[in-house]
Amino acid sequence: LLVDKGNHRHFMAKEIYEQPEVISHTFGHYLDLADETVSLPELPFDAKEVQHISITACGTALYAGAVAEYWLERFGRVPVSTDIASEFRYRETPLAPGGVTIVISQSGETADTLASLRYAKECGQKVVAVVNVPTSTIAREADVVLPILAGPEIGVASTKAFTCQLATLACLSVAFGRAKGVLSAEDEHKLVRAFMEVPRLMTEALKLSPEIEVLARTLAKARDVLYLGRGTNYPLALEGALKLKEISYIHAEGYAGGELKHGPIALIDEKMPVVVIAPHDRIFDKTVSNMEEVAARGGKIILVTDPKGAEAAPVNAVQKLILPEMPATVCPMVYSIPVQLIAYHTAVIMGTDVDQPRNLAKSVTVE
Ligand code: G6P
Repeated sequence: LLVDKGNHRHFMAKEIYEQPEVISHTFGHYLDLADETVSLPELPFDAKEVQHISITACGTALYAGAVAEYWLERFGRVPVSTDIASEFRYRETPLAPGGVTIVISQSGETADTLASLRYAKECGQKVVAVVNVPTSTIAREADVVLPILAGPEIGVASTKAFTCQLATLACLSVAFGRAKGVLSAEDEHKLVRAFMEVPRLMTEALKLSPEIEVLARTLAKARDVLYLGRGTNYPLALEGALKLKEISYIHAEGYAGGELKHGPIALIDEKMPVVVIAPHDRIFDKTVSNMEEVAARGGKIILVTDPKGAEAAPVNAVQKLILPEMPATVCPMVYSIPVQLIAYHTAVIMGTDVDQPRNLAKSVTVE
């Protein structure tokens, strides 16, 4: 293999740390920096006419799709449904001709995702493939390929592919927003400038690593960990829980903040850490209520937020990881860094095989 770990102990650490660089390649590919516009390859459909988008994938790629659902609906004002590929392929969901299906896959070989692509094509959908391996089966069979340009990912648990998928999908969402006439030229310029800040913001986020290493000592003692988020931070909560499960074998669940009352609150006690992913956005107040509910039951909170969020958070029982303030659209990309580092450091303390976790495969080509 031509890829090595450099100075890192694990491929996963190397792949977490190279994100500022690789994501700048992804953005470099999909942005026209001089014009401050998004510039995609020619699409095999008129985005203005698209009435429905379905997104389908597995694992981490599915959560990238779940974030993109928020962006496509917000910027493109087009209804989106996101579904697990193994459900989508068998559900016989009606797909009206003229729709678009986005399949997302790091490897481009995942069996259920490939079957979903074929189902979508049979239903007359135009298929956009967001892949890391441009020579893969999924890339070959799609109508258009948007490579994420993350470079080879060796760690079984996906990290840099996730953030590069997000970068690619963010650019696609802006392209829909422009085609649909929802985003003005000025809106687009602003978003492009925000995207250009992502590598710098990620570099800042990586500086939280020593703090996270300390926090991970507490997490490593937990039997269960709950992750909460709202809006695009909800799929990020799902991804955080997945990462922790995959590599540390600690049971974790991701929940939308508003669903706390509908079940997981019953689990809260002083033994269950709750990771809350919440920049100070327009729904931050709602998340404060969630944190108060957790604190009232003795739950320990790890809040991933920005300076304003840190100030507004309840004082008791909250440990804070503070990121710089940033536009909401780039949050899922930058907040991925502490989320990945939480799982990584916890797993290292647990002494698991971080790059080759038990029972998992990098690419799942059988059902
Ligand atoms: C496996 C990997 C995950 C990955 C998922 C989907 O479960 O362990 O990291 O997210 O497959 O893989 P794909 O190659 O389709 O993105």
